[in-house]
Amino acid sequence: MEYYTVSNVALDSVMISWRQRGDGNRPKRPVKSCWTVELKEANVRRRVLVTGADGFIGSHLCELLVQRDYDVRAFVYYNSWGTLGNLEHCDPELRKSMEIVSGDVRDYHSVKQALTGCDAVFHLAALIGIPYSYQAPASYVDTNIGGTLNVLQAARELGTSKVIHTSTSEAYGSALFVPITEEHPLQPQSPYSATKIGADQLALSYFRSFGTPVSIVRPFNTYGPRQSPRAVIPATIVQIASGMRSIKLGSLHPTRDFNYAVDTARGFIAAAEAENVVGEVINIGSNFEISIGDTVKLIAEIMSVNVQIETDQLRIRPEASEVERLWADNSKARKLLGWEPEYGGKDGFERGLRSTIEWFMKNTEIKSEKAAVYHV
Ligand SMILES: NC(=O)c1ccc[n+]([C@@H]2O[C@H](COP(=O)([O-])OP(=O)(O)OC[C@H]3O[C@@H](n4cnc5c(N)ncnc54)[C@H](O)[C@@H]3O)[C@@H](O)[C@H]2O)c1
Repeated sequence: MEYYTVSNVALDSVMISWRQRGDGNRPKRPVKSCWTVELKEANVRRRVLVTGADGFIGSHLCELLVQRDYDVRAFVYYNSWGTLGNLEHCDPELRKSMEIVSGDVRDYHSVKQALTGCDAVFHLAALIGIPYSYQAPASYVDTNIGGTLNVLQAARELGTSKVIHTSTSEAYGSALFVPITEEHPLQPQSPYSATKIGADQLALSYFRSFGTPVSIVRPFNTYGPRQSPRAVIPATIVQIASGMRSIKLGSLHPTRDFNYAVDTARGFIAAAEAENVVGEVINIGSNFEISIGDTVKLIAEIMSVNVQIETDQLRIRPEASEVERLWADNSKARKLLGWEPEYGGKDGFERGLRSTIEWFMKNTEIKSEKAAVYHV
């Protein structure tokens, strides 16, 4: 018998859901091949939902998906002004081909409606600021855990062929060994991290309990055009660009493994298209470690200025909450996804920083009084 499905998936749930979905136009394909390949071969356009499409990484992912010939349904967080967040910075030609729907991942109905008719979902919507998670932890539980549950349940009921769930390197906490492999223990050091770990575990439980075809990508710190000035790289760029030579920052000694946004987006698509990664957690990291302090020096060097750093107590995390060291082992992504960073190593980081700086100089209204203010 032929089913239309993906490798490693519990076949019953998929078969039933395709029937429930009444999607008679979809071709019947043999078991054990990849959904994207199957649809391409059958000349059926691949339709995907991206939650958090209005966000920093989500907007880059949507653009790349359109460029790779996917039909993109971009799920943006509803607001009464009809603004589209970072999708407003996308190439208008690419945005024109996206179907933009608004909703709230905390609302099951809006999630299920958005997912209906899609072959796969990239679930990125989340509350992501660590400092704000100290202030409003319940909203993180509702959005990051409740929202993920809604995506998983809708995917289960609709028989979605692939669910790419987004984790974070914050789930590892301060490295107990380096580079950090996917086997590293999970250590929630902030409410944000705890809710992302909870969401990851829910996603894995849906795979184990119901055969929902989930793969988890675990990006390390991502930077690039459009990132919120709350994050350290844009915060530094914007302060320097506004003329400040005494830069206000938090801790400088922690290390990070920074990834250029397009590299991260490429990792998401590679995970969606790969065979044999259902039920897997995969690090997306550059494998290049640098301290925050050295990152700031590099930015200042590229921007040709001398800066002093002023510690802003507001930006210091409680001691046990600070993640001291993150350095990714990316060998699993290289092996299973054939993915590697295009902006890897020190050279790649410098290239990525140059284009990030260029974007902020062109696209943001740089005002010193605003640049100096810490936005949680
Ligand atoms: N930026 C990083 O360095 C990084 C690193 C690792 C993992 N991640 C993960 O990647 C994903 C995207 O992060 P980002 O940096 O693009 O953040 P972002 O804040 O720019 O994007 C998140 C998006 O989710 C949307 N959202 C929030 N609540 C929602 C709700 N209730 N309903 C619908 N949409 C809602 C927001 O509108 C926002 O646009 C997140 O899951 C985050 O945890 C980010």
